[in-house]
Amino acid sequence: MNRYVLMISVVAALGGLLFGFDTAVISGTINFIQPYFGLSEAGLGWTVSSLLFGCIGGVFFAGKAGDHYGRKKVLMFAALLFFISAIGSASAHSLLYFLIARILGGLAVGVASILSPMYIAELAPAQYRGSLVSLNQLAIVVGILVAFFSNYLLVGTGVNNWRWMLLVMAAPAVLLFFSLFLVPESPRWLVARMRSREALNILIKTSGEELAGCELHQIEETLKIHQEAVFSDLIQSKIRPLLIIGIILAVFQQITGINTIMYYAPKIFASVGDSNGTALLQTIAIGCTNVIFTLIAMALIDRFGRRLLLIFGSAGMMTMLLGLSALYFMKQTSGIMVLVFILGYIAFFSASLGPAVWVVVAELFPNRLRSKGMSVAIVTLWIACTIVSVTFPIMLQKLSGGITFLIFAVICLANSLYVWQFVPETKGKTLEELEFELSKKF
Ligand code: BGC
Repeated sequence: MNRYVLMISVVAALGGLLFGFDTAVISGTINFIQPYFGLSEAGLGWTVSSLLFGCIGGVFFAGKAGDHYGRKKVLMFAALLFFISAIGSASAHSLLYFLIARILGGLAVGVASILSPMYIAELAPAQYRGSLVSLNQLAIVVGILVAFFSNYLLVGTGVNNWRWMLLVMAAPAVLLFFSLFLVPESPRWLVARMRSREALNILIKTSGEELAGCELHQIEETLKIHQEAVFSDLIQSKIRPLLIIGIILAVFQQITGINTIMYYAPKIFASVGDSNGTALLQTIAIGCTNVIFTLIAMALIDRFGRRLLLIFGSAGMMTMLLGLSALYFMKQTSGIMVLVFILGYIAFFSASLGPAVWVVVAELFPNRLRSKGMSVAIVTLWIACTIVSVTFPIMLQKLSGGITFLIFAVICLANSLYVWQFVPETKGKTLEELEFELSKKF
């Protein structure tokens, strides 16, 4: 891979990093913002989830604005939003102000969750495109780890510790904004804007002289058809089954409970008797597990296939959740085993549903409907994420940890069975081969 492509990917991955950072940073602050803003459990759920409402808007906004103003400009706008959100939430003295700042951050996360992978895919030479979807997940989990780590370092800085935790995000936001000046606009977008000459110059740099002309031709062809695609095409009889699979997988990725752990881990640890400092240290262990097992998934996903990873990963997650639930039922939550089951659960998620859902959702749809199909699936992912995050503190309080984690375990089992029965294997085929195969299958 040439240096130019690598630089472009790293810059775009900063969007994924901010996505991960912004969604996870809240976990280290909740034990401090809850008393500061006087929040009930339900109030805390809404406050943590405020970002997610922004995400849903951000995904729709990015789909339209990215086509109108270009991927690069809209990512720059997202960087600005990340910056404003960091300053705003860190300086908030009222709950309303805090919520508005978090929702603005959410808009930025929504934009980054669509445009970062889209921008990388549109600039990457074809032979690297497959692994880049997983690279985006890696950037997300690194962002989460950075958030956990900086939260841990800042927890001892006094009453304003949560403000410093939130302010940290301003730094990568500035970095993303300025580094975007170094990268080109997406050639695909340039072609759509009748700027084929500029697109060709970029393709020469990313794919080399020989392939560039041919690639430009293919982009022009795809865009010709792409322009005619509308959202209602997604409900055509051939596409509908793919849309349903995409939506169900996206929803399963969330309702198996990953973000109850990612967002609320310190609270879970604190509720079983750990101090805030230790809780945050354990949370860093979660972040590291996330990164290591995402790397493992990247090594396995093309060899063993998406289905195998998803089926075994969910079964592993189920086992860990059953263990966690049993600890709560037996009132044995004060020992190391809580951490062991949580880390085991994260490891299985990171090696399966974490990257594989994004990969399958990106592979399922035919070329001309990919962005529209993906955006519908990703919006449902964020909606599911919001519902789980809002209800989790209430579930934990009303149902107890035992029943709550048992419910998530049953959902993991349902996911394994669903993938086994309904999700096609997508490994090792070109997107066009897949398009042909899936259109015959459904
Ligand atoms: C999920 C996020 C989650 C992250 C954690 C992503 O694939 O979509 O909701 O926070 O993984 O690993």
